[in-house]
Amino acid sequence: MSTLTTSSSALHELLDALGPNAVLIGGDVPARNRNDYSGLKPTEPMAVVRPADTAGVAAAMRICHAHGIPVVPQGGLTGLCGGGRAGPGEVALSLERMVGIEEVDKAAATMTVAAGTPLETIQLAADEAGFFCPLDLGARGSCAIGGNLSTNAGGNRVIRYGMAREMVLGLEAVLADGTVVNSLNKMIKNNAGFDLKHLFIGSEGTLGVITRVVIRLFPKPGSRMVAMCAAPDYATLLTLLDKARSGLGPLLSAFEVMWPDYWGRAVTELRARNPFAGDDTPYKGYVLIEALGTDAEADAPRFQAWLEGLLEDGIVPNAVVAQSLAEEQALWGVRDACGELHQVWPGHVAYDIGLPVADMDRYVGECKARLAREVPGCETVFYGHIGDGNVHIVAYLPGAEQQPKDALDAVVYGLVADYGGTVSAEHGIGTLKRQWLGHARSPEQIDLMRTLKAALDPKGILNPYKVL
Ligand code: LAC
Ligand code: ZN
Repeated sequence: MSTLTTSSSALHELLDALGPNAVLIGGDVPARNRNDYSGLKPTEPMAVVRPADTAGVAAAMRICHAHGIPVVPQGGLTGLCGGGRAGPGEVALSLERMVGIEEVDKAAATMTVAAGTPLETIQLAADEAGFFCPLDLGARGSCAIGGNLSTNAGGNRVIRYGMAREMVLGLEAVLADGTVVNSLNKMIKNNAGFDLKHLFIGSEGTLGVITRVVIRLFPKPGSRMVAMCAAPDYATLLTLLDKARSGLGPLLSAFEVMWPDYWGRAVTELRARNPFAGDDTPYKGYVLIEALGTDAEADAPRFQAWLEGLLEDGIVPNAVVAQSLAEEQALWGVRDACGELHQVWPGHVAYDIGLPVADMDRYVGECKARLAREVPGCETVFYGHIGDGNVHIVAYLPGAEQQPKDALDAVVYGLVADYGGTVSAEHGIGTLKRQWLGHARSPEQIDLMRTLKAALDPKGILNPYKVL
């Protein structure tokens, strides 16, 4: 049978099984299903399949498996590494119709949701139910929880609550051959054999399609304190991290560092409000510190006193504490201004590397100098979640028709290997970092990943050419 016949009979079977609304073919594939946020070119998938439920996903997988048709799972398509892009000859399996909160279990403190549900919908529903969903990232309004899990998303509160992996108690997934594996566990403790949900978390849709999720809910914070501190050097930032961990204890929920190159652009070109306006000291770093507590009346003065102590002891030269929601938002605005970088640097190249915390500033200095030398004219900014060992780099060569990504990658990832870091701390591998996986994982680790892939998807139809 020729490929054409195979695919057209597969498409007929998909149409029969799922109905015409759920299967859009060729030119009818909507623009949104042709790309993600990776900055790569739009694709031309053979079809987009949009099942309404798990049974529909299972039917689609069974048909594609029988015909050997590659399937690319799609959530909110906000991924930054190309993991959700479906190419010619591939079917995009979109979970966009599988949205909604199925249940809130107050006793278990869990919420069961369909995998296509946007993260923000889950956050709001948790709030309404009197709980807190701490997973949070810039794309909250568009990203889907299934995608958050398949990439094991990080975000701004990892220092306290962990990565997406830590916020999930159970899930349901559909395997490459259409088998439905229900692991919708709600118990925090469950050591009955392998914890199978972890196969599907962080494997970027290569081992199965996540269809339903049991989210772990947390108590709603009763207080929030936000401060910005300036630092004369990196050693001070490390001292501050230590003081924040010991002084704020479990309340510490964000420790977001910005190097001066990032800060300068954020408060000028990106128009974030400068909380240190009028202070012209050339600081070597800035950190946004957030704490979430339970008692506004007691927590806010305690936080203020903790920070005043650091100022009095001469550890921190300058700091501001937000006194209102608007001021909290203004301080977060400096950190979130990175979301606007594309306006001044269209097509920029972005990184989410991981590094040992102690060596980060040395890496930043060396990387910046080597990029300037090896890619002349290149501009860079550095910022990140340093408490989590995660630095973001954004690089841009002004005036270039095409950004010199290969040359930039070689410097950034070459140094990552030298420093014993990782090529992806939180965004995943997708297609963009495939060739660099060996800079962060050993041959034995990669062989084991291949063994798992071959066992779960022997025909290699699930998100092929991604990650591995
Ligand atoms: C951030 C995203 C890009 O931290 O991971 O801003
Ligand atoms: Zn990040």
